[in-house]
Amino acid sequence: MGYPHKPHPKETPILSKYFGEPQARTLDGWKERGGYRALQQALGMTPVDIVNVVKESGLRGRGGAGFPTGSKWSFMKPGDGKAHYLCVNADESEPGTFKDREIMRWTPHALIEGTAIAAYAIGAEVAYIYIRGEFTEPLRVMEAAVKEAYAAGILGNNAMGSGHRVDVHVHRGAGAYICGEETALMNSLEGRRGNPRIKPPFPAVAGLFGLPTTINNVETLAAVPHILNNGAAWYKAMCLSNPKSTGSKLFSVCGNVTRPGNYEVTMGFPFKDFLYDLCGGPLPGRKFKAVIPGGSSVPIQTMDEAESTLMDYEGFVAKGTMLGSGGVIIFDDSQCMVKHIARFARFYAHESCAQCTQCREGTAWTTKILERIEAGGGTMQDFDTLLELADNMTGKTICVLSDSCAAPVVSGIQKFKHEFEAHITGKRCPFRATAAA
Ligand SMILES: Cc1cc2nc3c(=O)[nH]c(=O)nc-3n(C[C@H](O)[C@H](O)[C@H](O)COP(=O)(O)O)c2cc1C
Repeated sequence: MGYPHKPHPKETPILSKYFGEPQARTLDGWKERGGYRALQQALGMTPVDIVNVVKESGLRGRGGAGFPTGSKWSFMKPGDGKAHYLCVNADESEPGTFKDREIMRWTPHALIEGTAIAAYAIGAEVAYIYIRGEFTEPLRVMEAAVKEAYAAGILGNNAMGSGHRVDVHVHRGAGAYICGEETALMNSLEGRRGNPRIKPPFPAVAGLFGLPTTINNVETLAAVPHILNNGAAWYKAMCLSNPKSTGSKLFSVCGNVTRPGNYEVTMGFPFKDFLYDLCGGPLPGRKFKAVIPGGSSVPIQTMDEAESTLMDYEGFVAKGTMLGSGGVIIFDDSQCMVKHIARFARFYAHESCAQCTQCREGTAWTTKILERIEAGGGTMQDFDTLLELADNMTGKTICVLSDSCAAPVVSGIQKFKHEFEAHITGKRCPFRATAAA
């Protein structure tokens, strides 16, 4: 996606419609484009009615897990006499994912509007936007937009003259992947080390400062004003396959592909058309080999699997992987899968908070073994060791960081075992040999 953004005719540009238009960043520009009508409307509704509209729309979390947003909001009990909080997850550190930063860079008021609506709907007077430490430009843009919204009386003690308090604070993280995990984010916001917490209690019961909290991803919240403006039925009708997956979704595309960038499509869009029509297919003289469709934490797909996948939560699961955060990483036939899987493992080992033994030791040993195989020092016994480690790292820890490390390893061994074997028997990386020849 270049700027100014000219969407492909097969895209559904809703969240990305104004990407590349500097005027859309300003409050006036956002209002000219219909901004803050949804918040005005929401502040005149009851919180329960807003939650019901969002439930009815079918919106599901875009941060990775795909949890239904309206249901999540309904866990916040009105009238419990406690302060409620909203956390906005703008930590976006999943390798291959770069869509939330674009929402914040180009349409900061879309996020503020969605945040304010969500805060009101869950009974929170205060929301925190937790933004990744490295996001210098998105941070600057978000802070300027929040300032404008306060100056115009959109945020504050009497939001849009409604009598309701909606305060939004932008908090900069220090650049740690683990702080994207919801409870680690809350610890970090509280000034503690960003370690995930054991659940239960879930955030809706005891979250930020021990009080009921909802956490949502940037893209999830940016969709909310559109749902209120156009209605739940409009959103629900955006569905090309499974009725449980509705709306549009931004996919970030990187790797060996002709046109990398962000693309917004209707849920259920055919992955083959996406890869060839929108993204322009492989680079000249190359063939696609593999895809990781949902950020580095999800299982790798072969091209046969990818080309028959429909791009929604159920479609990716049916083909052995997950939609995840929508970070599509593409590998062509010039790439060594062992090298890339080892690289991902090193990332997880570096980012592990080290609380759980299975994760701390598992990610480190997985990295060592994979790097040894890649360097030509592997043995056939390593397969068993890697798979045993992966088993110990899946479903056994406080958060799913170690599961995320295991997913590309297990799927990589299942689907590209011949590449591992070629390294072991040839005692060298066959791809390096080709490159040197
Ligand atoms: C290690 C780890 C990192 C995560 N990083 C992010 C992130 O950067 N952004 C995000 O929105 N969700 C991230 N998540 C998922 C969040 O824990 C949470 O599910 C999400 O913010 C909920 O928002 P949603 O329901 O709108 O998707 C991460 C999860 C884990 C385990």
